[in-house]
Amino acid sequence: MNKVLVINGPNLNLLGTREPEIYGKHTLANIESITLKLLKKNQILCTVEWFQSNSESEIVDKIQSLMGDNVDLLVINPGAYSHTSVAILDALKSISIAKIEVHLSHTLKREEFRHKKLTALGCDAVIEGLGPVGYFTAISSQEYKKKFTK
Ligand code: DQA
Repeated sequence: MNKVLVINGPNLNLLGTREPEIYGKHTLANIESITLKLLKKNQILCTVEWFQSNSESEIVDKIQSLMGDNVDLLVINPGAYSHTSVAILDALKSISIAKIEVHLSHTLKREEFRHKKLTALGCDAVIEGLGPVGYFTAISSQEYKKKFTK
């Protein structure tokens, strides 16, 4: 795997100060560097682009930009849009690369409105409840998947 795009949705720019009892104390920048360190340590060679937006339309545009691009994996934490956005679901369905949805928190243990995940229907897998390590888990899973599906 060479190229990975990680998209983080609304309010994830506030990590570190936003509800730390749920999302922890790491900022998004910390999470990026933790992920890159773990990838390096595990000799997983790839370039990772990080994109964050609070806007549904910008996220849809970013997903659409993957059409014809040579990105191998999309990792997406759509934040609250996971539970509401048919537009992001449709955009995810329109691209054919590997897609993994990540949530920092274990949403099934939280309010009922977080149990329904529309955007997950457009992804190949969902990883949740692992905190910052979820992003590394998503990216590294593709390396192991390749080995075991040969
Ligand atoms: C989240 C879970 C969502 O329900 C919430 O709206 C978020 C963060 C998570 O990473 O746990 O913004 O996606």
